[in-house]
Amino acid sequence: MKKSLLIKENEKENFKINENNLTFELENFPILINSFPRKYSVSPINNYSDYLEILETSDFIIIDQKVEVIYKLPEKNKDKIFSFEAIEANKNMNTVLDLINLFIENNISKGSKVIAIGGGIVQDISACACALFRRGQPFIYLPTTTLGQLDSCVGAKCAVNTVLAKNILGLFSAPKEVIIPIFAIETMPAIDHRAGLSEMLRLCLTASQKALNTYLEILPYIINPKNLDKDKYTSALRLSLSIKKSVVDFDEYEKDVRRSMNYGHTFGHAIEKLVNFKIPHGLGVLLGIHIANTFSFNKKFMSLELYNQISNAIRSTLKDIENDFLYLNKIDPLDIIDQFKYDKKGDGKSVPLILIKQPGEMIFYKYSFDSKSHEIKNSIESSIKEFIKWSRD
Ligand SMILES: NC(=O)c1ccc[n+]([C@@H]2O[C@H](COP(=O)([O-])OP(=O)(O)OC[C@H]3O[C@@H](n4cnc5c(N)ncnc54)[C@H](O)[C@@H]3O)[C@@H](O)[C@H]2O)c1
Repeated sequence: MKKSLLIKENEKENFKINENNLTFELENFPILINSFPRKYSVSPINNYSDYLEILETSDFIIIDQKVEVIYKLPEKNKDKIFSFEAIEANKNMNTVLDLINLFIENNISKGSKVIAIGGGIVQDISACACALFRRGQPFIYLPTTTLGQLDSCVGAKCAVNTVLAKNILGLFSAPKEVIIPIFAIETMPAIDHRAGLSEMLRLCLTASQKALNTYLEILPYIINPKNLDKDKYTSALRLSLSIKKSVVDFDEYEKDVRRSMNYGHTFGHAIEKLVNFKIPHGLGVLLGIHIANTFSFNKKFMSLELYNQISNAIRSTLKDIENDFLYLNKIDPLDIIDQFKYDKKGDGKSVPLILIKQPGEMIFYKYSFDSKSHEIKNSIESSIKEFIKWSRD
């Protein structure tokens, strides 16, 4: 599969036009990520017995408390673990320091086999602690959430929150290897599963029309975690991670095309923060994507046809979610705009809003903090209303 991934800065505001003819190809497992300073491979496992075999030889395990209860650990691993509740309130430097202290107490060295098991929160804490500990403790990552498997396990980013801002303390810290326990998806809470699928939709939208069409074809087979079509889910993993690989192989340190991956995130992070993380990250991003599209459509960057097609894809991702997002009604759109100043991509005066013109053709729209905000405000207001309505359809 080949398709251009074009990135454009907003021409109207005299930004430089930066076009990359980046192509992506559908990879087979194991997928090799050309990370710096070392490459790592990503491959799936299907069974709990394979999981136990991997853990047997580990020296230290970092694990999501919930996952530890569901997927029992071998007896021998039980005293050398760091298990914690995977909630945003714990994704901070205190948890990183607690983990590092346990590394010290357990004589963890560069030769130790450290395994991190959980979703994006476990990944963020583990990767931050491992980057700091002795300037680079190797670790193997086993993503157990849909988001972890379809998106975050590739890319080497990690970040933790402070009281004021989400993901504001971050660095690049690649794992030594990624092993994806596909069977773990069966126990995913429905809402968190949809959050992961939302991140896959985002990746497809930043790639190509064909990727978007494939997402829509596969979605009915993978939307219910308890009744997952394993073959289709493996195809979803291949597609999603192939897109991510193409971007991070080209621009791991986000100097260029990788910035397009923030599509939906400036709005998403602000919303997450304003509702005190009641909305899972991926769904915050999904709403952020809808706001970005509404704004893009209102600015006439995006056609009505594409706007409707993506809106339908968002609707399908939310279908029968059985969750009430009414709390979003309480958000003041101006508070969302006010949060832009905490966005990592900002330069103190403006923030680049990532919009799309076509799937795979991105626009970096420079939003100045002192510009009139009514257009964005209107886009936020109408998008939130629609998002709530779609989740109740
Ligand atoms: N480092 C990155 O590149 C990156 C990328 C995207 C998102 N993130 C971050 O990741 C976080 C979101 O991660 P996430 O969506 O993977 O979820 P998560 O780690 O917040 O976990 C979501 C919920 O699922 C539970 N859970 C995990 N695995 C399970 C399983 N197999 N069965 C049942 N329950 C399970 C967790 O306990 C938690 O309640 C956010 O903090 C986000 O900022 C990081």
